[in-house]
Amino acid sequence: MEKMKIGVLLSGSGSTLQSMIDHIKNGQLQAEIVAVISDNMKAYGLERAKDAGIPTMVVSLKGKSVDDYSKEICQVLENKDVKLVVLAGFLHKYMNQNKDMSVINIHPSLLPAFAGKGMYGSKVHKAVIARGCKLSGCTLHFVNDEYDEGPIIAQDIVKISSVETFETLQQKVQAQEKLTLINGLRDIISGKVKRRGNTVFITRESQSSDKE
Ligand code: GRF
Repeated sequence: MEKMKIGVLLSGSGSTLQSMIDHIKNGQLQAEIVAVISDNMKAYGLERAKDAGIPTMVVSLKGKSVDDYSKEICQVLENKDVKLVVLAGFLHKYMNQNKDMSVINIHPSLLPAFAGKGMYGSKVHKAVIARGCKLSGCTLHFVNDEYDEGPIIAQDIVKISSVETFETLQQKVQAQEKLTLINGLRDIISGKVKRRGNTVFITRESQSSDKE
């Protein structure tokens, strides 16, 4: 059976992309990453893609509206027959132009907390620590036209210790994100993820068909 074609958008180091590459290489994820696109020509994630033989492209956002650069990116993805787009540390809004494509994002907090424009990376973890939270975690969600507001696919928690720093929290959350993303990708690829309005249902083998 043909593997699902995935496109990845990133702006930074690409450790999330690397996790996907490694799982595919080890046969633990039945998918094919056919394009990695960045707004930042210096993004190390582009190097990781090239090392894995994945076509890359830099699409500058300078002077373009969100709509225009989203259309440009979407065209590249359509030409590669992409069915699933993963935002893996993409620091800008992406407006999906093709309703046959699903777009997902992994965010380093338990949405809807600590989200929205500008809330990414260490800014999130610093805010979580400053708020005195006892739990944090990550959220895998479908992307809509607002930052971090799309339907939630999966969330996993990370406990915060009394001596937690934002650096140690970031490490724990980033490790969990990679697991949450891979598990979510497996569920999407196997057709278990169904959306009903703003709610996502994941069917499990053990459930009878009338329960979701
Ligand atoms: C991830 O840790 C996640 O929080 C968010 O951006 C980060 C990307 O890191 N989506 P990397 O560029 O994949 O290392």
